[in-house]
Amino acid sequence: MKIGGDTVASVTGGASGLGAATVRMLTGLGAQVLILDRDADRGAALADETGARFRPLDVSDAADIAAAFADIAETEGRLDLHVNCAGIAPAAKTISRGEVHDAYAFARVVAINLNGSFFCASHAALMMAANPPAAPDGERGVIVHTASIAAWDGQVGQAAYAASKGGVAGLVLPMARDLADKGIRVCAIAPGLFLTPMLEGLPDEVRESLGAQVPFPARLGDPGDYAALVRHIAENPMLNGETIRLDGAIRMAPR
Ligand SMILES: NC(=O)c1ccc[n+]([C@@H]2O[C@H](COP(=O)([O-])OP(=O)(O)OC[C@H]3O[C@@H](n4cnc5c(N)ncnc54)[C@H](O)[C@@H]3O)[C@@H](O)[C@H]2O)c1
Repeated sequence: MKIGGDTVASVTGGASGLGAATVRMLTGLGAQVLILDRDADRGAALADETGARFRPLDVSDAADIAAAFADIAETEGRLDLHVNCAGIAPAAKTISRGEVHDAYAFARVVAINLNGSFFCASHAALMMAANPPAAPDGERGVIVHTASIAAWDGQVGQAAYAASKGGVAGLVLPMARDLADKGIRVCAIAPGLFLTPMLEGLPDEVRESLGAQVPFPARLGDPGDYAALVRHIAENPMLNGETIRLDGAIRMAPR
């Protein structure tokens, strides 16, 4: 898919960080972009700045997801590219101070990071399936999930987060297989350490020390590096069913 003025794209978590960089990349190429995020202030501000449209959405709410995609169908009439960036990363150990991991907290991480990704992507696929097939391969759409290197290298305190991201990585191949006959591709990006609001709150020396642990380039990832891979996945028709690590070769230590 060549991203341009005819492309309609939706980005969950598009109000901040990796999602916001993706929104900027897409609007910069002339695409019509829907920001789907629960943060109304940042979402509306980025929409004003970029010319995207903002629609509030809590991705842990299946009914709200269905309503959001019905809204996209009504206002845009089609969808070509969907990018899942909404996510949370709270830390808690399996057992701590004589208690097991809070059940609600575990379920909440999975509800947002895994269930939210799957159901948004499913509604996106339903819309894409109605697109006319594009030459030369008959492609109808592209879905990009965001996993994490924690899917394989989960650290102390990351049981819930790593399980949710391992689930996202596990979705990719069966979704690509399910949607192959519709001409819809499904990939995921597994970022390493990226400088987004998730990490911006850390003191300078901690950020520098994290960046220095990356073999090459020895720095934190720039959200633009992530957006560049979203563009490449969208535009390279042979990329399908794969989760791509984007991490400067880092492998996380236990803590
Ligand atoms: N920053 C990193 O180093 C890094 C590394 C690996 C994976 N990731 C993943 O990349 C994705 C984006 O992370 P980021 O660093 O840009 O974080 P971020 O906090 O800057 O952005 C996340 C966005 O998701 C939105 N969001 C959270 N819960 C939501 C919900 N229930 N419904 C709708 N929107 C919701 C937030 O409002 C926010 O705008 C996440 O899935 C994260 O797990 C980030």
